[in-house]
Amino acid sequence: MQIIRSVDELIGYVAMQKEHHHSIGFVPTMGALHAGHISLVERAVADNDSVIVSVFVNPTQFNNPTDLATYPRDEESDIRLLAKAGVNAVFIPTVEEIYPAGQQRDHEFELGSVSEVMEGKFRPGHFQGVAQAVSRLFELVRPDRAYFGEKDFQQIAVINEMVKSEGIDVEIIPCPIKREEDGLALSSRNQLLTEDQRRRAPEIYAALKYSVEYSKEHSVRATHDTVVERIDAIPEMKVEYFEIVDARTLLPVEEWEESPEIVGCITVYNGKVRLIDNIRYR
Ligand code: PAJ
Repeated sequence: MQIIRSVDELIGYVAMQKEHHHSIGFVPTMGALHAGHISLVERAVADNDSVIVSVFVNPTQFNNPTDLATYPRDEESDIRLLAKAGVNAVFIPTVEEIYPAGQQRDHEFELGSVSEVMEGKFRPGHFQGVAQAVSRLFELVRPDRAYFGEKDFQQIAVINEMVKSEGIDVEIIPCPIKREEDGLALSSRNQLLTEDQRRRAPEIYAALKYSVEYSKEHSVRATHDTVVERIDAIPEMKVEYFEIVDARTLLPVEEWEESPEIVGCITVYNGKVRLIDNIRYR
């Protein structure tokens, strides 16, 4: 596996792949890699001639400086896991390599209404930062396919909008959520949990899973409330938002009959650690 740190070297590597007519699969990440990331990588390896993974903690998508400062990093372990998974090249740039002219955006991305709800409301500027980093990486990597996890359900919708409005020719491939055996969605942030917080964290998915059964006999409102009440009753846990939405528009539904595709998206503070998850209802 080639370890690439500069933009120039990456451009050369990509040019060589294109010359050989190799299809390029790309998995953008912020590192501290876990089996969730690796599941995307494995899918990319299966689908493409050449797989590039980026490890870049993008400062412009953090709206909270403490969150950026405490974001876990482990380059050595990342490199080991990616080599083992059969990745061809890992791109590990500095902030200056990605944003040579500074971190301000040269234009506002058109991300549509899917970017304005949920994470868009609670993390102002977050998706503009995600679009800034991912569009820059797409421009350098020129992938045929790019892989994103459904754990960040809204992020996929926003990336699809970005690709459309920027006219980028890439296929966006959504991949299912990877969970621990106890149900907790894998996340780099899980390592920041105390022992007690980690022990209670699976309750988030347990509440979501239970609510799918519950939803068969109850209204959207009652299903919403049962999830929030159950999680808020757990020590140190507080639901920031839980929204039951149309999976395509991400707008809240009031009746189960309103859409054939409905998903519940949740964000929970477990102590100071912000965890997100989601589940399909229909
Ligand atoms: P990061 O949080 O590192 O996630 C990288 C990719 O891994 C994302 O597509 C995310 O949805 C996926 N992922 C994370 N946990 C997962 C899990 N448990 N199961 C399946 N997939 C999972 O998302 C980002 O980085 C950044 O916003 C990025 C797209 C790299 C832009 O900076």
